Amino acid sequence: MGAGWGASDWLAYPPSKDFATQQANVGRKGSWRAEGMSAVPASVQPRCSTSNDARISRLMSLLSSKRAAPGATGPTSNLEFPPAAHDIFLGKRRGDGNNTTCNIRGLRLCQSGGLEVFCMLKNRFIQRWGGGAIERWGIGAIAAFQLWQLSEHKDADVVRLIRRIRRERKSLQSAFEAFYVYSLAKTQSRLPGELAEVGVFEGATARLICEAKGDRALHLFDTFCGLPPDSDKDLGIHRIHQYACDRRSVETYLAGYDRICFHEGRFPESTLDLPEQTYSFVHLDVDLYESTKAALEYFYPRMTPGGAIVSHDYSMLAGVQQAVDEFFAHKPERPIEQPTTQCVIFKQ
Ligand SMILES: C[S@@+](CC[C@H](N)C(=O)[O-])C[C@H]1O[C@@H](n2cnc3c(N)ncnc32)[C@H](O)[C@@H]1O
Repeated sequence: MGAGWGASDWLAYPPSKDFATQQANVGRKGSWRAEGMSAVPASVQPRCSTSNDARISRLMSLLSSKRAAPGATGPTSNLEFPPAAHDIFLGKRRGDGNNTTCNIRGLRLCQSGGLEVFCMLKNRFIQRWGGGAIERWGIGAIAAFQLWQLSEHKDADVVRLIRRIRRERKSLQSAFEAFYVYSLAKTQSRLPGELAEVGVFEGATARLICEAKGDRALHLFDTFCGLPPDSDKDLGIHRIHQYACDRRSVETYLAGYDRICFHEGRFPESTLDLPEQTYSFVHLDVDLYESTKAALEYFYPRMTPGGAIVSHDYSMLAGVQQAVDEFFAHKPERPIEQPTTQCVIFKQ
């Protein structure tokens, strides 16, 4: 194929000389089809003129010209798009074709604003191994693609920072998620109020927030002996004491930053001695229903107007999603779901 093919294109659709075989796949379950007025779905049409998007544009023209069904024109073109990546890698898919009901989302191909690959691991078996080799390998692979994409158009120093932190600490955040945490913390640190994170583990996202916070104080809450017991809302995915990390190791890692306050212990008990203050940015990464609920109950009334609470794993972990949805069901704010696993709420 031409120079337009990158590594992620091979993941999405290993190129084949046999276009007839590909055309025979038209209508196969899980295949992608052209949408609307264009042979290329709106969600994947090139959007701006970065070099990355220019490459994608070339790729899409190539696909359009070579893969349209014979005789097909315009809006009803039978252009066949790549099968979902998990069809290729896992060889199976359960569900009725509606992605939200797929049990194995596995490595899933998404196209968004000219960035072509985003993979998700949403399988309870894999999640039970959370923090283990499978999930870390999966997220590491995702992060590698995402870092490549970010490096096309984001500040090189921020991309380098995310890459370095990934090398230095274990983390289950994708590169897009890490970027979002950094970017939001930086913006929010201009508002009055302090910053906080509940769920620190080895300090990967805490380090990003440290880089973004300027002279604001950052409060870090964790048991530092891993997850507390889960509830039935968490579907048995996690193990008690999973993600244990010695507090001293995190203190050493963040030693170069001022105004970092560690609050060791189970949240919300760890807030008992905390003086009253307001917050402009809170990052929740606690994995569990009860912990998420407790954190929202504590922080929501203390948020500065315009302050942001961002939660990791909103679209990945049932307990987290339930806690957020229940909490905001009768509040004026609504959780804004991100293309990543995160959701964000801005206090009115
Ligand atoms: C997935 S890890 C956090 C990952 C981290 N943000 C990173 O960037 O790698 C989840 C953390 O939440 C902490 N945690 C969960 N519930 C908690 C609670 N109720 N109180 C204190 N810590 C809690 C666990 O100890 C664990 O370190």
